[in-house]
Amino acid sequence: MQQLVIASNNEGKIREIRQMTEGIEPCLPVGKVLSLKEIGFTEEIPEHYHSFEENALAKASAINKFCGKNVFADDSGLCIHALNGEPGVDSAHYCGVRDDEQNLQKVLKELKGAEDRDAFYKAVICLIWEGEVYYFEGICNGTIIDEKRGAGGFGYDPVFIPEGYNQTFGELPLDVKNGISHRGKAVKKMVEFLGQQNK
Ligand code: IMP
Repeated sequence: MQQLVIASNNEGKIREIRQMTEGIEPCLPVGKVLSLKEIGFTEEIPEHYHSFEENALAKASAINKFCGKNVFADDSGLCIHALNGEPGVDSAHYCGVRDDEQNLQKVLKELKGAEDRDAFYKAVICLIWEGEVYYFEGICNGTIIDEKRGAGGFGYDPVFIPEGYNQTFGELPLDVKNGISHRGKAVKKMVEFLGQQNK
């Protein structure tokens, strides 16, 4: 049985990806999806690049080199129209440090009084499978409200309302978020790809 590692230390991402892959693990050519802790990787993974693709590849490559196993990494972020796509690839440390609450407050400050509140989340998954590199992308359009609502999700979720809904990702149940989110779409594509392997 092949193994597959999630190259992330972000608890929010891991919780979501685990929920999406749990039910289908038995149908895939992989055993359990392993965390970095389970493979004994404890360092920070470098992600200094200017695109989601480059950062996702950097993370997946670092872990693939470390353990030699199949691995995937998600690089993602929130792109806000009125801020010329910011925070984008800098979403995790928009305020200067890796702090979800301070990042969210900076977004609210930058958007104070703005009429255009359009935004989208983007996720790029880089999968290294049997030595080959594959990418899977997902986008989720929505709007940014001017105060936090809900305690679910992570990052900017309490201020992000996905298109077609009235609640934020902080208020919607995780299975609803996973069904429509950027990450949910990218993971679904990767799972479909894995389902086609070793047939
Ligand atoms: P990365 O680890 O560089 O990919 O950083 C991703 C960052 O983008 C997170 O730390 C959040 O700030 C933001 N982000 C990405 N996806 C989500 C999401 O689903 N909800 C909330 N914030 C997200």
